[in-house]
Amino acid sequence: MIKAVRGTRDLLPPETALWNFVEAAVRDVFRAYNFQEIRTPIFESTELFARGVGEETDIVSKEMYTFDDGKPDEQMANAWLRQQSLIFRNALPSLSEDRPRWVVETQDTVFPFEAEITPRTKTLERLHSFACRAREVRTNVRPLLLHPSDFAVGEPFRSSAERLGVELMAMEVEPLQRLTLRPENTAGVVRAYIEHKLWDRGLNKLYYIGPQFRRERPQKGRYRQFYQIGAEVIGPATAGSESPARDAEILELLATLLDRLGIKDWTLQLNSIGCANDRAKYNEALRKALDPVKDKMDPDCQRRAVTNPLRVFDCKVPEDQPIIEKLPRISQFLDEPCRQHFAQVQEILESVGVEFHLNDRLVRGLDYYTRTAFEFTHGALGAQNAILGGGRYDGLSEALGGPAAPGIGFAIGEDRLVLALSESAEAVYRKPDVYIAPLGAGMNKEAARLARELRRHDLVVELGDESFRLKKSLETASKLGAKYALIAGENELSTGVFALKNLATGEQKPVPRSDLAQAIQS
Ligand code: HAM
Repeated sequence: MIKAVRGTRDLLPPETALWNFVEAAVRDVFRAYNFQEIRTPIFESTELFARGVGEETDIVSKEMYTFDDGKPDEQMANAWLRQQSLIFRNALPSLSEDRPRWVVETQDTVFPFEAEITPRTKTLERLHSFACRAREVRTNVRPLLLHPSDFAVGEPFRSSAERLGVELMAMEVEPLQRLTLRPENTAGVVRAYIEHKLWDRGLNKLYYIGPQFRRERPQKGRYRQFYQIGAEVIGPATAGSESPARDAEILELLATLLDRLGIKDWTLQLNSIGCANDRAKYNEALRKALDPVKDKMDPDCQRRAVTNPLRVFDCKVPEDQPIIEKLPRISQFLDEPCRQHFAQVQEILESVGVEFHLNDRLVRGLDYYTRTAFEFTHGALGAQNAILGGGRYDGLSEALGGPAAPGIGFAIGEDRLVLALSESAEAVYRKPDVYIAPLGAGMNKEAARLARELRRHDLVVELGDESFRLKKSLETASKLGAKYALIAGENELSTGVFALKNLATGEQKPVPRSDLAQAIQS
């Protein structure tokens, strides 16, 4: 049996109703805050994430799904055919066994050939044996192996080719494009901002909903294909993109959104991780503080201490916590404008009544952040308790070759959001209002007409089948959780009065056709 790949999963009904409920509610909230949707591609060039998210981050260094796009073998084969002015013709189809990938023929010569990035001796042998068989039916057979011109052919390989009578041919190959399934969407949005010169529109308030891919160890709330609902506010500073009001609006939006969805147990963890200047000084101080103690730490934390000292705060190993507790904190290193910016964000949050918890150990796992950084955690989620994360990324556009464009955004883990909601899910699933039970031969078409009438009234209608006995129809209707069963037999049709059965109470009453929709709705 072929199963879904580890870390991916099928979302099935009725759970998908919960996903739709979440997405509809989220779109409503985004509309109220004047956000518009952006959809960027699911794969991007690898360089975007390396430069955007950061080479040293866990995401880029070990979790990306990256692949080389292109078919260099076909590229070489086509280039050679063009050079020879040959069109690909499948010569010698009679010799079907163990054929090379290409066999073409000119007036007097047959060329069996292969193209390989790394030519193999085995291929030489196969070409040789095919050529021997071909020579029984054609006089001129020239087996050929194409390889990229930057492949250094070793002497032993060259002499094998000579011995087996296979010509080697070096071909120019275009470099392959290295692509990555997006592990997050902020870099893609900023790329689109630059590519389409979105600064012409002033402040951009964009949102997205879609799958992301990270090769993490799967567990509850952590998948390799997961879904994010995210938003980015980005634009020139003159459009107000740098203002603490943006940070506060984003955070207030998130509080509204979670409340609207009925998620109560959330905590907003808030920090400022400083501007570029502060960060350089702080990293220096951290390195100094870590130097004498880092050897006592877990190997993974040690690596962080060297490559990206800020990330040491994310080390979860209990034995390392006393060391981490004593490290200097970014809050002591913020310069005056940065401190003021952060203070203003807090003031607005207090004024609108959004509670937050200052956490100067919160550092986030992506390199682009500056100043405000935050996460919302949720009690019911266990180890993977971050339901969403985000922050400011004032230098990202420049890092990707664009103009200065301060920005702030967030991404909610939709899988985790749904998980947090699943206890109260029942209320979201819409069950059929009515199940129509056609009774007897020829009744399907009448039932279809009835269903059409009722669906126009925005009722959820499920249809049985005329081959079902009444008992089976009623059982099916109950199993589906339908409110009513409507019986459509000869009698009902001729009188225009239908038996409507309330499946919860068992009560059955006659209802005229014109009153059916109202009776079901009430
Ligand atoms: P992030 O913290 O890497 O930030 O991811 C945001 C959220 O995505 C997490 O809080 C979590 O809920 C969810 N998430 C991450 N990885 C997984 C996974 N493997 N399985 C399930 N859920 C997961 C970002 O991605 C930034 N782009 C957010 C942002 C937008 N910052 C500024 N703008």
